[in-house]
Amino acid sequence: MSEIWPRRPRLVAGNWKMHRTSAEGAALSGEIAALVRGQKACAVALCPPFPAIEAVGRSLRDSGIHLGAQNMHPEPQGAFTGEVSGSMLRGAGCRFVILGHSERRHGMGETDDVVARKLRAALRDGLTAIVCVGETLSEREGGQTAEVLVRQVRTAYDGLPPGTARQTVIAYEPVWAIGTGRVATPEQASEAHRVIRATLDRVVGAGTGAEVALLYGGSVNPGNAPALFAEDEVDGALVGGASLEAASFWRIVAAAS
Ligand code: 13P
Repeated sequence: MSEIWPRRPRLVAGNWKMHRTSAEGAALSGEIAALVRGQKACAVALCPPFPAIEAVGRSLRDSGIHLGAQNMHPEPQGAFTGEVSGSMLRGAGCRFVILGHSERRHGMGETDDVVARKLRAALRDGLTAIVCVGETLSEREGGQTAEVLVRQVRTAYDGLPPGTARQTVIAYEPVWAIGTGRVATPEQASEAHRVIRATLDRVVGAGTGAEVALLYGGSVNPGNAPALFAEDEVDGALVGGASLEAASFWRIVAAAS
C-alpha cells in the first residue's frame, strides 16, 4: 500500500455515520464521483454504513475515490454477533476504516485499549486506519486537552514500528465540535495537531509526527474549510454532516486541493 500512500498525504474523508440506505448511498456517491472525478491534489474517501458499502463501492468504481468503513472488530473472525472484521471490509473493497470515533468511545464504551487492538488488526488486514482522538468540552475547559490527546495517541500507537505508523491517519475531532456547528478555530486545530505529532515522535520514533496525515473533524463545512486547510498543520478533514450533500462535500474537497 505504501507505493500509493505518499508521506503525509492530503485527504478529505466523508463519515456518513448512520445515514443512507444502499440505494441512497449509491445515488449520493455517484453524484460525488461526478463532481470529484479528475481532481488529484487530494485523496478522497467515503465511509458509508456497512449495508451500503458494496453498492457505494460499485458506484465509485474507476472514480479514484476510496471506500472506507466506520468501525471493525479486532478479531479476524469468530462468534461476535453483529460485528465485522477487517478482512471482510477488505473483501468488500474498503481501503480505509475509521477507528475510535468519539461516538463509539463515548456512546458504545470503546476504550483506548480496544482502539489500540483495532488499530493493530486494521494494519494486519491491510486497511489504512483513520484513528480518531479528541477531548470533551469539560476536558477542554479543565485544561486537559493535551493530556487526553497524549493518552489516546500513546495507547493506540505504543509499540508500532515507524514504517507501520506512517500508513495510518489521525483525525483530531474535539467532541464539542462534532455535529454542533461549533468548529474549532484554525489555531486550536493546529495546536492539537502539534501535540499529536510530538506524541508520535516520542512514542513511535523521531520524525514520525511529520509523516502522518492529520485531519481535523467537527462541523467542517464549505465556509470554514479554507481557513482550516490554510494551516500547515492540517492535512485534510473528516467530514460528517456536510458529506451527506454532494455539492457541499465537493466544495470541501476543492478547498483542500
Ligand atoms: P460533523 O461534521 O457532522 O460535525 O461530524 C464530524 C465527525 O464526527 C466526522 O467523523
